[in-house]
Amino acid sequence: MKQSFFIKTYGCQMNVYDSEKIIELMTSGGYRQSSNPEESDIAIFNTCHIREKAAEKLFSDLGRISKYKENKIKSGSSMKIIVTGCVAQAEGDEIKKRNKSVDLIFGPQNYQNITDALEGKNEKYVYSDFLCEDKFESLPIRNSHEISRLVTIQEGCDKFCSFCVVPYTRGAEFSRPVEGIFLEVKKLVEMGAKEVILLGQNVSSYNSNVFEDGIKVSVKLSKLCNLISNIRGLERIRYLTSHPNDIENDLINEHYTNKKLMPFLHLPIQSGSDRVLKKMNRNHSRSDYINLVRNIKSKINNMAFSSDFIVGYPGETEYDFDQTIDLIEHVGFASSYSFKYSPRAGTQSSLKHLNVVNDNVSDLRLKKIQEILNKQQSEFNLKFIDKNEEVLFTDKGKKNNQFVGRTKYLQPVHVLCNRNIIGKKLEVNLESLTSFSFHGKIIN
Ligand code: 5AD
Ligand code: SF4
Repeated sequence: MKQSFFIKTYGCQMNVYDSEKIIELMTSGGYRQSSNPEESDIAIFNTCHIREKAAEKLFSDLGRISKYKENKIKSGSSMKIIVTGCVAQAEGDEIKKRNKSVDLIFGPQNYQNITDALEGKNEKYVYSDFLCEDKFESLPIRNSHEISRLVTIQEGCDKFCSFCVVPYTRGAEFSRPVEGIFLEVKKLVEMGAKEVILLGQNVSSYNSNVFEDGIKVSVKLSKLCNLISNIRGLERIRYLTSHPNDIENDLINEHYTNKKLMPFLHLPIQSGSDRVLKKMNRNHSRSDYINLVRNIKSKINNMAFSSDFIVGYPGETEYDFDQTIDLIEHVGFASSYSFKYSPRAGTQSSLKHLNVVNDNVSDLRLKKIQEILNKQQSEFNLKFIDKNEEVLFTDKGKKNNQFVGRTKYLQPVHVLCNRNIIGKKLEVNLESLTSFSFHGKIIN
């Protein structure tokens, strides 16, 4: 009988994409996916290292799974435990020192080796090379009829924000070749996708090239979106995450002319204080950010923005925090994520132990910023009540005849309909709002 594997994914959408690739690699290698970690022959943990909480969750899960493994060994069978992802890259061998039941460890650019390693084709158990090209060339596309699909176009980061582990766990910036991305999107559309979300730690610095009439032409994110939008059947293109310093006019113009490119931009700023931005090595000021948003809105008046914020960065004063609140109120975000600063080993900010913000103060700041961001999100949403919006339906809802889709701005919408509308883009009148999702009625 085929061996079964269980996989758990932590963290960002890039990990979700990587897990899809691992699943396809395993199933095409003859393994069967199982949703039960206890019964599976192989347990894979695709991990995140961005904040301490995410990394620690792995070790508590490993504690639990190693008990299952012990029981299996006692009853005469076996289990292999695999750790993949950013914790694998950052901690490597240390993981095995903390939990001896772990068998194999793969950094984010080494997944193509998983099946060979399981078959015992190699001696080593830690795979942590930086081989982006190998990864994208060798991993298969998951066979699925989902309407919205993820496609990683770029991996790694050269920005070295002082708090961030990404340049260490995902390595230097690497842009996937255009042809591979184009063919992947085409295949996803043939399988039924209507939307693709182009992923990368820093997609706005995507830079590759193609040959046009024998001449090498540079392809930035704007041109990539343009090329992909020619694929018939693809209706929506999104991308994330962008750095404010890399958003240039060509991308703004592409939004203006390319109707498949959604008017929603995730643009992390992290802090609204110039002093903190400088310490974070963000290389832009609050007014640069405000001017950028203003410039984009002046050209694309329906563009909505979301952002990431960190509170309690070392040395953040009450005044700095107020500057962040002021920026939020000034810009107005459709939705955002906010986090309490978490020192990560090896990053610049973790080396300087000065002026650590008291934990209770950080907690209070996080609570306050989240209240404000939630209020803004509600205000943004309320403007849509009684309006008609185009919704792309992706899934069935929990109720009978219920379907769920998203507006251009990623707002979830529920409707009732007695025919299958999955994959359809329809005009919907947004009638009411519960929490952050709408209920509406299909027009016509
Ligand atoms: N502490 C808290 N939040 C962090 N992020 C990245 N590193 C840290 C850290 N050390 C947040 C940033 C980033 C998002 C993906 O995670 O806001 O944009
Ligand atoms: Fe991390 Fe983003 Fe800064 Fe890169 S740009 S170092 S991924 S926060």
